[in-house]
Amino acid sequence: MKKAILTIAAAIMTIAAMAQPKLTKDNIDDVINAMTLQEKASLLVGVRSSLVPGAAGYTCGIDRFGIPVTVLADGPAGLRIRPTREGDSKTYYATGMPIGTLLASSWDTDLVETVTKAIGEEVLEYGVDVLLAPGVNLHRNPLCGRNFEYFSEDPLLSGKMAAAYVRGIQSNGVGTSVKHFATNNQETNRLENNSIVSQRALRELYLKNFEIAIKEGKPWTVMSSYNKLNGNYTQQDYDLLTTILKKEWGFDGIVMTDWGNKEGTVKSAKAGNDLMEPGRQNEVDRIIAAVQDGSISKEELDRNVRNMLNYIIRTPKFNGYNFTNKPDLAAHAKVALKGAEESIVLLKNDNACLPLKGTEKVALYGVTSIDFVAGGTGSGEVNKAYVVNMEDALIKAGFTLDNTLADFNRTYVNYKKAENRLNHGWAQAKVKEIAVPLSAIHEQAAANDMAIYVLGRNAGEGADRNINGDFELTEAERDLIRDLSVEYHALGKKVVVVLNIGGVIETASWKGLVDAILLPWSPGQEGANAIANILTGKVSPSGKLPMTFPVKYQDHPSSLNFPYDWNLFHARGVKKDFEYTKYEEGIWVGYRHLATRGAEVSYPFGYGLSYTSFEYSTLAIKATADGFEATIAVTNKGSVAGKEVVQLYVSAPEGSLEKPACELKAFAKTKELKPGESQTLTLKVSNYELASFNEATSAWEAASGRYSIRFGSSVQDIRATAEFKLKKALSWPVNNVLSPER
Ligand code: BGC
Repeated sequence: MKKAILTIAAAIMTIAAMAQPKLTKDNIDDVINAMTLQEKASLLVGVRSSLVPGAAGYTCGIDRFGIPVTVLADGPAGLRIRPTREGDSKTYYATGMPIGTLLASSWDTDLVETVTKAIGEEVLEYGVDVLLAPGVNLHRNPLCGRNFEYFSEDPLLSGKMAAAYVRGIQSNGVGTSVKHFATNNQETNRLENNSIVSQRALRELYLKNFEIAIKEGKPWTVMSSYNKLNGNYTQQDYDLLTTILKKEWGFDGIVMTDWGNKEGTVKSAKAGNDLMEPGRQNEVDRIIAAVQDGSISKEELDRNVRNMLNYIIRTPKFNGYNFTNKPDLAAHAKVALKGAEESIVLLKNDNACLPLKGTEKVALYGVTSIDFVAGGTGSGEVNKAYVVNMEDALIKAGFTLDNTLADFNRTYVNYKKAENRLNHGWAQAKVKEIAVPLSAIHEQAAANDMAIYVLGRNAGEGADRNINGDFELTEAERDLIRDLSVEYHALGKKVVVVLNIGGVIETASWKGLVDAILLPWSPGQEGANAIANILTGKVSPSGKLPMTFPVKYQDHPSSLNFPYDWNLFHARGVKKDFEYTKYEEGIWVGYRHLATRGAEVSYPFGYGLSYTSFEYSTLAIKATADGFEATIAVTNKGSVAGKEVVQLYVSAPEGSLEKPACELKAFAKTKELKPGESQTLTLKVSNYELASFNEATSAWEAASGRYSIRFGSSVQDIRATAEFKLKKALSWPVNNVLSPER
């Protein structure tokens, strides 16, 4: 009798377990079959939680299936969580790493993986499952307020950097979210703006970087953008999210919305946007109602739920990882330093002004010298324990600083911040440059060995930059550069400018007045130490520009269709560039336009100086099964160690399409080469990568004929050329979708 009861009890338990299975990687379909409609809908919508204070969002947990809440937090320049917690004396700082644009300036995918491996460890150890990064949108126009988070004006460089970023983070067993998919190239009216883009420009530029990131990085998640693309919200676009991303590119993770609550939840779910973030009850209700009235089919619902469960079983939360809240911040600060050192770009260095020789007495100018910009603002801002200032870094490096000047700047910055706090309740993010009296500069020039001017900018989410006083220098900045140049040069002393900025600024009109220009961008919490190490020559600069510095803003054709004056929209209700933005320039973005038209630039794409010089030699091109392999030897011909970035540009035969004069198809960075040392680099290019997109046939097409292969130290400085012959034209048809006419 007892045995029979036990058997019945065991059978009931088995049935119950079958009806209510605990999620494992092998029973996803059983779990889906056991879920109620309410549970399924909830899983597709984010929830509120306080698991990790400061995290951006969460996914829904369902206890009865053992489905945990998972945690999503921002990046990209490090993990963004709150550094302190109520009733808790411990701190939860994350490392402020170099911004995306600086990482791209390294042209070094291994370095990017090293930096992001460290960020990923913080993600894991602070109990977060997915970092909402990298930001991959192309630098279509220099004024986009979030360019600092993004990598480049070139899709190949951008895609390779993004893939490396993803690999580094995910090597920790946590996820990434490649964002913002797609054409989120301006911040003005970003929630509603309609980007109108040709299929060719989409395929070759604005989707290409994502394609590379997805195929080579294999991110766990993708974030759709807020904006519309050719008439549809990207998060509601089946062709974008399913036809291209999931079917053509084979993306097998989840797509989540950017943070909002658009009415078209149903359209999003159907389009393949699996998760709504940060999530509201009305989104759950909309999904339930749509399933009940048949506008979302059971297959569509279960498809998204399956994607969510496949995501969840990968997460540290699901796998019970016991996080420590103690990532190795000391070790990661060293990684942040290296990340900046390997990426800073030397733009100008007349008469070997840098590295500085011996200990010097330095007059440090600019409010930014004591209010250093480690990163941008908005969701990309990291709560770091400290930011090294230029002042401290230079003192540590052995320089003697002019204290009068430092005190003057400090007093002014503190005053401005206090004033702002009083007037607006918060301290201004960036204090504008103050005029320095000529008489003071005159005295300081006599008392010091040289001048270093730190010129700063900050930008961030939600607003684009202006031309006046942002792309262009302010009057105070111009005057300062002019006066420093006159006073210091009169005494045979040097003037060095450090550009602590997040996006491209005008340089052509003033660069002639100074001896050296260093571009560290916004280099993270240790960036000022990296700058000091480059100034002293401890490190030889090896960064190269991931975009062009034009002579004038208007040299970019996109300037005809970009919102550069916010007041216009408010005052006059202008719709152009606000409600919609026509990418009329098509594929003619950055160097693709400027190099093809032979336009003068201030600094070309791929440009960057070193303290040594390199020679390129013994070039060989070998056909492979699906393209070619190029080998080139690089020799350090100078007297100090250094690294060189070799850029492989291709000029393709026209075929039936007009093409840019050249396009970047591969790149590689040498190891540190000692004087006289050589290294042979191998660069691979596939035939598919040679192809251009033909809208008439909806196919990628590689024309037959001679391809000129150019090895450059920048797009303008070609050191060696070779040829690759494609005997037969090749074509890769794709779905004819996303047309602007639809
Ligand atoms: C930003 C995203 C960010 C999200 C969560 C949005 O406003 O556009 O980049 O990941 O907020 O904070």
